[in-house]
Amino acid sequence: MNAQPAGSHDVPAPLLTVEHLTMRFGGLIAVEDLSFQALDRQITAIIGPNGAGKTTVFNCLTGFYRPTIGRLSLHLPDGDRLLERMEGFRIAQAGVARTFQNIRLFPRMSALENLVVAQHNPLMRASGYSFLGVLGVGGYQEAEDQAVALARLWLERVDLVEQADWDAGNLPYGAQRRLEIARAMCARPVLLCLDEPAAGLNPRESAELNQLLLSIRDEERMSFAPIWARR
Ligand SMILES: Nc1ncnc2c1ncn2[C@@H]1O[C@H](COP(=O)(O)OP(=O)(O)OP(=O)(O)O)[C@@H](O)[C@H]1O
Ligand SMILES: [Mg+2]
Repeated sequence: MNAQPAGSHDVPAPLLTVEHLTMRFGGLIAVEDLSFQALDRQITAIIGPNGAGKTTVFNCLTGFYRPTIGRLSLHLPDGDRLLERMEGFRIAQAGVARTFQNIRLFPRMSALENLVVAQHNPLMRASGYSFLGVLGVGGYQEAEDQAVALARLWLERVDLVEQADWDAGNLPYGAQRRLEIARAMCARPVLLCLDEPAAGLNPRESAELNQLLLSIRDEERMSFAPIWARR
């Protein structure tokens, strides 16, 4: 399995350092001694054949699995976060978002609602973690308006404004893939992990996805690590 930054120009700082990552499931070694860096504002591809352990790497980075061995450091302006020691929701709060190889949207919620739910953390903070917030006390209403505005902005970016009220589960497959990326972006991540984002897309949809990802890197000035399977 290989991981390398693509398209570097100036030399950006590392955002993520993975050192000696190993993940064992009983006797099966899914990832063995993997080390790489993902640089700020760069696209870092993780490439490997089926079963090479790509999804497992993302599961370790995002707290779904705790690595058997390894150090996963996210370098933020106010200090490093050691992801292998953090709960998944803390990792998300620190700015690592992901999409899934098998799409995991909330199928019976609308496209817009899927994007608002992704902003659970700021909304909960604004609610003061109580029902008083939901009843309009404090800044909850403002936070909710902002969440809807950000959701609409991302629906526009992924060309799904017209489908805002559709159940996510009724969207065409390519649209669901784009909605998942929009949902991850609504969490305002610093690092976005995309697990085979082009799987199942036709060539035109893949080309559009590439454009979307390049525009996210350039306009949001963020990094992400997409996975491609080498079949
Ligand atoms: N929770 C688990 N328990 C046991 N084995 C697992 C688990 N998750 C992954 N594996 C095994 O680890 C290996 C790597 O799987 P993984 O899904 O990470 O590969 P991948 O590179 O993402 O493959 P693909 O290209 O098919 O998506 C496989 O042999 C898989 O069966
Ligand atoms: Mg996989």
